[in-house]
Formats: sequence, C-alpha cells, structure tokens
Amino acid sequence: MILAPSTPAARTVVPVALEGRAYDIHIGRDQLAEAAALIAALAPGARAALVTDETVARLHADALEASLARAGIGTTRITIPPGEASKSYARFAAVCDALLDAKIERNDLVIAFGGGVVGDLAGFAAAVLRRGVRFVQIPTTLLAQVDSSVGGKTGINSSHGKNLIGAFHQPALVVADTALLDTLSQREFKAGYAEVVKYGLIDDPAFFDWCEVNWSRVIAGGPERDQAVAVSCRAKAAIVARDEREEGDRALLNLGHTFAHALERLTAYDSSRLVHGEAVAIGLALAFRFSQRLGLCPGQDAIRVSRHLDNIGLPSRLQQVPGGAGSAEDIVAAMAQDKKVKRGALTFILARGIGRSFIAPGIPADDVRGFIADELAG
Ligand code: GLY
Repeated sequence: MILAPSTPAARTVVPVALEGRAYDIHIGRDQLAEAAALIAALAPGARAALVTDETVARLHADALEASLARAGIGTTRITIPPGEASKSYARFAAVCDALLDAKIERNDLVIAFGGGVVGDLAGFAAAVLRRGVRFVQIPTTLLAQVDSSVGGKTGINSSHGKNLIGAFHQPALVVADTALLDTLSQREFKAGYAEVVKYGLIDDPAFFDWCEVNWSRVIAGGPERDQAVAVSCRAKAAIVARDEREEGDRALLNLGHTFAHALERLTAYDSSRLVHGEAVAIGLALAFRFSQRLGLCPGQDAIRVSRHLDNIGLPSRLQQVPGGAGSAEDIVAAMAQDKKVKRGALTFILARGIGRSFIAPGIPADDVRGFIADELAG
C-alpha cells in the first residue's frame, strides 16, 4: 500500500518584535509535534517542566509529552487544579517548589500548557525561578491564544485584586494549536471570542465587519478560526512591540476591562456566574454606550457592538449578570480597586466609533455612577 505523504498543517507565524526578547507566535491546527520540534531547537538538550491543569492534562498532555519525547525533550509534569483560585500565593509556592524538585535549571524551560490561569501562574514562576528561566506558552483556550499568552504579563491574584502580584516576562515562543479549542465548551469558546471582537473595536473596523460576517465559522473551527486568532495575535504583537510595559498604547487592550474587572470582583470570581470573557463582553458594550452618552460615539456603533455580542450569545447588559451585579455604588467602588485607577481618578478606554478607541483618563466617578444607575434601571 502506498501511503500519501502527510500534508503539513497550514500555519501562520506572527513575530513579536521586542529587541533582545523577540519571539514568534505559531498559529494553526495540529501543531503539537511542530511545537516539540521548535522547543527542541530553542533549547537543545534542555529539560522541560510542563505546567498544566487537570482538565488539559486529561485531554491533551499525553500527546504533547509524547511529541516532546520524540523530539528528545524530557519533561516533568506539574498539574494544578483548574480555575482562577489557582492564581494564589499558595499555588505559586507549590509550583515553584515543584520546579525546584524537578531540578529545572537556568538553561531549562517551563512550558505553560493551558488557559490564562496556567499561563499567568507558570509564567510568573518562570520569571522568578532562579531569577528567571525561559518559558514557552502553548495556550489551550481561545482567550489565552488571542490575548494572555502573548505579551509577557504574568502573575497571581491577591486579596486586594486580580493580577496585582506579577512580572513582565516574555515567553520565548508561543504555539497556538487551534485544534485544541475543539474540546472547549461553547460557553468558554464564546467568552474568549469577546477578546477577538475587542481587536476590531480598538482600531480595526474592517476586522469588526469581518467578525460580524464570519463569527459562526470561527466557532465552527474552519480556516476562519485560524484567521481570527492570527489577526488578533498580529494586533496584540504590534501593540506590545510599541509599548511592552503599558506606559501608553498597551492600555487600549483594556477596552471594556475596567467594567469587566469590577463585575468579576462583585461576582467573587465565581465562574459559575461569570467568566472573564463574559465580563469583557458586558464591558465592551458598556464602554460603547458610555462613549455614546458622553457624546463621543454614534449611537449606531454602540448598537452594532451590543447586537454582535447578542447574536453570538454573549451578555451585553448588567442585568445579564447571574445573581445581579450590585448597585451603581458597588460597581464604582469595585472599579476604584482596579490597578488602572491613578490617584483616585478613573481611567477608561472610550471610543469615538468602532475601531476608534482611545485612553480617557480622569473620568469623574459621578459620571460613571450616573451612567451605571441608568443602565441598571434601563
Ligand atoms: N491583556 C491585556 C494585556 O496583555 O495588556
């Protein structure tokens, strides 16, 4: 029998142009064998610790470890419980100790194989272990593929808020295998899609148009999914390259997030009520309606944003927060805890229209409170 040669899976490579810390994002279906080869080339003879969560371990870790073994990379697996609660001091200490137990040294690698929680926690451990070891991101959720795995933000939560303890530590490589997204629940996939839409809303109106037409094919997993991930990663890479440490433009990536973080806080980070991407979806719609109220954004654009989120099945209103979002006062107070608040003044990302977002510091809390009160009453 003559076997047809296997066709290499289509792949897009997006460079992140950071001087001295440049790396590539590889995007495509069925990329785990390729990931192993790239890791072997990155660190010949190195050992690797694979940090993952229980869900990803059950579904995908054996396949990745087998590919790494074939590429000559020995691995130790470190498995954490899934969910935001793992971004804790205690879990961070446990992962650091497990990396030391595994004798991961300066020339070895940490591989973050999971969603945003795994990436943030493993990346932070890599940033401080032996004063810094290289790490590779192999994100397994849409949210992680289009946002958190790129750009080097790592960290854990404290009782004072989310991501308040952390470090900038860029990965040495990101491999986004879009076939891994097939095992996500619809809810988790759609939540990640909110971050995809965000890139169109920030500065790419043509991409928002494209999303309106193609969103169902992105969810179904056709080439449109890879395209959405690639466009998102290109947008994020460009912003990170010009403002790695969020001293300017990178704050645009927080479109919708000041509202979102407050909602996550008020729902006690309880994923049965609200996951991050759902909070972002509400935050995006609110950012556009708030911009409209301030006379900045045409009403038609605010309606288009909400309609697109509604079509997908994402929430776009405070009333859709299960169990309620609290009062306008609660929401403003929760916003004041956000680390994006500077000297008591609220900073928002607002928009003059779809694809025309900008950083708006010094927004009076009374304006926000009045807007939210009307939203809750509406
Ligand atoms: N997720 C926002 C950022 O990476 O800056």
